[in-house]
Amino acid sequence: MSRAKQLYDWFDTRLDVENGQTFLGKAFPAEDSFLLGEVALFCFLLLVLSGIFLGFFFEPSTSDVEYDGSVQKFQGEEMPEAFVSVLHITYDVPFGMFIRRLHHWAAHLFVASIGLHMLRVFFTGAYRNPREPNWIVGTGLAALAMGAAYTGYALPFDEFAATATSIGYNLTISVPLVGDFFGQVIFGGEFPSSATIPRLYFLHVLVIPMLIAGGLALHMAILVRQKHTEAPRDDDLTAGGREVDKDDDSVIVGLPAFPNQAAVSAVVFFFTAATLSALAGLLPVHNIAHYGPNDPASTPGLIMPDWFLMWVYGFLKLLPKWASFTVGPVHVSGEFIGGVVLPGLVFAAVAVWPFIDRTPEPTHFTADPLSRPWQTGVGVAAVAFVMIASIAGMNNILADKVLGTTTGVVNPILQAALLLVPPLVGGLTYLLLRNGDDESQTDEQEIAADGDAAADATGGESDD
Ligand code: HEM
Repeated sequence: MSRAKQLYDWFDTRLDVENGQTFLGKAFPAEDSFLLGEVALFCFLLLVLSGIFLGFFFEPSTSDVEYDGSVQKFQGEEMPEAFVSVLHITYDVPFGMFIRRLHHWAAHLFVASIGLHMLRVFFTGAYRNPREPNWIVGTGLAALAMGAAYTGYALPFDEFAATATSIGYNLTISVPLVGDFFGQVIFGGEFPSSATIPRLYFLHVLVIPMLIAGGLALHMAILVRQKHTEAPRDDDLTAGGREVDKDDDSVIVGLPAFPNQAAVSAVVFFFTAATLSALAGLLPVHNIAHYGPNDPASTPGLIMPDWFLMWVYGFLKLLPKWASFTVGPVHVSGEFIGGVVLPGLVFAAVAVWPFIDRTPEPTHFTADPLSRPWQTGVGVAAVAFVMIASIAGMNNILADKVLGTTTGVVNPILQAALLLVPPLVGGLTYLLLRNGDDESQTDEQEIAADGDAAADATGGESDD
């Protein structure tokens, strides 16, 4: 027995390498859009790595300390320790500014790639039976990713971010009956209290990342267990030394996980890391030296959440005043409806979607969005809805800087747009695709009829 074989057997008896090989031979269909999930995965990895670096220097405390660093205008000033430590990371720690920017851009790309990945899964119908559980796990991951970004946004405790974070506190305490309790748990009491930053830090560096890591492990385990979806094949083919029928979806054709897909994934990883490095090197992020430390006595003129929470902010801005009421001892505020109920309904609608578009039989081929009129119509309407709500979140900029008017003028237009445009574009998409489908079906029938005629004729000839 060769030494290599002996070594292999040694490992095999301990680690069951043989079974591992079966796993490593798993097929990954070679589709570019299937790499979006990997981009999200690698962003998470880079977030953890860059976050560990930042964790060595960040101080989760709002106690005032005297500033002694490179930013001249704050020299000798008493400021919250969290703010001072982020100034220190940015201007004094070697590579600090680069890593802080990398962490920032990785967070944005993480949420963006999750959104695109979700749209890919939606429009190709990859959520259908048997993948509903993974769609639900994914919905949870999307919410957690937003939670991670939100809690991170607050940590420098600068004037701009702290004010935006206070919106989250107001939404939390707006929940009838249990709001104050949640405010205590998440924010450590009235915002900003001395416990706020330690609580958000704990959520940001431990609770949420652990939940994301657990959710990801489940997401990947389900993916491996169920096999990936595959685009419909044009013809029968030979793969892995066996003949595969074009319509046989019990077999998935693709690259083996190792070494081929692993090599593709390595390229995706380095591409993601390179893109984020370029962004970190070239584009500045949230300039806390410009905003200054949080000052509870003042409110900055412009308050804005990150772009991916802008749609929630939009609901808050568009909700009419009368949409708040009191029933007995329970007060239901506009903040609760716009900032908690409506976003909750959006997430709930996303989670239950595979049960609305129900598929009784397991489906392993992806669908062409152009041949699914109503599902694609709903998707287009949903994208329009979130985009209009996001524009509404910036209603003051739209009114003041773009249209030169007031929010009183643009709000009713945005309200009407939010209610009318999604059903309009969704309905239009449906009609366009349905007509296209009808035409292609007519074409198919004509071809089939021609084929039948030819078969009949041949049959007639052989009878003679
Ligand atoms: C932290 C966030 C997420 C990460 C890192 C992630 C990662 C991945 C990866 C690497 C794959 C396999 C490759 C691919 O199809 O892209 C995948 C598949 C899948 N993901 Fe995600 N995902 C995340 C969030 C989501 C979300 C938000 C949804 C939907 C709500 C979702 C639903 C699915 C489904 C249904 C599959 C199977 C797709 C198929 O077999 O074609 N994922 N995910």
